[in-house]
Amino acid sequence: MKAPVRVAVTGAAGQISYSLIFRIASGSMLGPDQPVILQLLEIPPAMGALQGVLMELNDCAFPLVAGVIATDDPNVAFKDIDFALLVGSRPRGPGMERSDLLNANGAIFTVQGKALSDNAKPNVRVLVVGNPANTNALICLKNAPKLNPRNVTAMMRLDHNRAMSQIAEKTGTHSTKVEKVVVWGNHSSTQYPDISYATADGKAVKSLVTDEWNKNEFIPTVQQRGAAIIKARGASSAASAASAAVDHMRNWALGSNGQWVSMGVYSKGNPYGVDQDLIFAFPITCENGEWKIVEGLEISDYSREMIKKTEAELQSERAAVADHIK
Ligand code: NAI
Repeated sequence: MKAPVRVAVTGAAGQISYSLIFRIASGSMLGPDQPVILQLLEIPPAMGALQGVLMELNDCAFPLVAGVIATDDPNVAFKDIDFALLVGSRPRGPGMERSDLLNANGAIFTVQGKALSDNAKPNVRVLVVGNPANTNALICLKNAPKLNPRNVTAMMRLDHNRAMSQIAEKTGTHSTKVEKVVVWGNHSSTQYPDISYATADGKAVKSLVTDEWNKNEFIPTVQQRGAAIIKARGASSAASAASAAVDHMRNWALGSNGQWVSMGVYSKGNPYGVDQDLIFAFPITCENGEWKIVEGLEISDYSREMIKKTEAELQSERAAVADHIK
């Protein structure tokens, strides 16, 4: 058995974490031979609920759990961690403007970025799930001088998995036979799910579907999937979000075996002409614990326009949180 690694989860008493923590503890994220010490962070009003999660975690008697810490202090939660899944964030309240939401979360991710920088292992891998995920990740990165900017990422994997599943259904295949899907940009309704390079059972998806389906069904369905789930379930997607977080971290740590995945990463040095100071989703492959942007793709005029739109939204989010990223 390997030595345990330390994994922090924030928002640990929330909906996503109620699924996520148990998947991590079972070995789905880092493998069946990797023990974990879970370091769970909540805010003081949720510490009671977190105790309940802790009781259930103990009741699972997971063989891979080598320890659990529950705390409301980020400096304790992030001490010596190898992985951080930042799920906790401030939801939009009644009458709250978008800029208020960005700033309320800005305050959280400023504190957590600093606490990560001061306490985590320098090569900690960070995944921001809490929305607005890309901009929260940018704030975290800017407030964490000791971290490698490459190690702060935002979750686009749910969007990626949604796109894979829509294509599999449309082309009558299994999602494991769908490859080279990309979701570019922001985890928001401006994201660009792109089938330009995608294949299903080895055939170009573009040759299997119409342009009309792509533009008027596929793209809006993936972009609006979160809202559709809230409408149907009366609550936001939690299990699928947790599953996507597990996928993101597993591929990053253990490799994507040549498969393309979508990850929100720091855009500095990107080969697609996107603003160099954003957390932006690109097509990515992972190997030996490192992510790499897939290079050399031809970008059509339509794709360029869609990428510009989501880039512009991220630029305006960045402007709205300027005070947090100085
Ligand atoms: P939730 O409201 O059930 O749980 C959030 C938890 O975070 C709460 O227990 C709250 O007490 C805690 N929290 C708030 N501030 C905190 C802080 N400063 N430190 C630690 N914990 C804190 O929400 P849910 O459903 O678990 O979603 C969490 C976030 O994930 C939301 O922002 C949601 O929009 C986002 N999300 C992102 C997705 C993505 O693809 N990137 C997909 C689905 C959800």
